[in-house]
Amino acid sequence: MSGPKFFVTNGHLLLCQASTCTRLGADVLYQALWAYLEREHLAYYKAGGSVRLTSSGCLGVCNYGPALLCYRQQGPGLEQAWYAAADFLLLRQVAQAVQTGAALPRAHRYDL
Ligand code: FES
Repeated sequence: MSGPKFFVTNGHLLLCQASTCTRLGADVLYQALWAYLEREHLAYYKAGGSVRLTSSGCLGVCNYGPALLCYRQQGPGLEQAWYAAADFLLLRQVAQAVQTGAALPRAHRYDL
């Protein structure tokens, strides 16, 4: 019997899809980011891809949305980056950094 297939993952993006962020365009951003991940072969199930994207419930900064959270393994620890007012350029930059292992963008972060 075969089990679920595991795909190597460099990092995980969680984009809020709760009501306030959705009113601020997070639903459109989510669809656009999926299309970008697939087109650029960054999606975890594409050859060479390693980025996961999941819709998230409220991340607690509603009026500053769309909100994005990124988790990834860095050295012995887990790195997290919390973003407010995410736009498509930022999402692309975060996804590229996750894929390549580069530093995550500092702009829009509110956890620093
Ligand atoms: S609705 Fe997105 S952070 Fe609350």
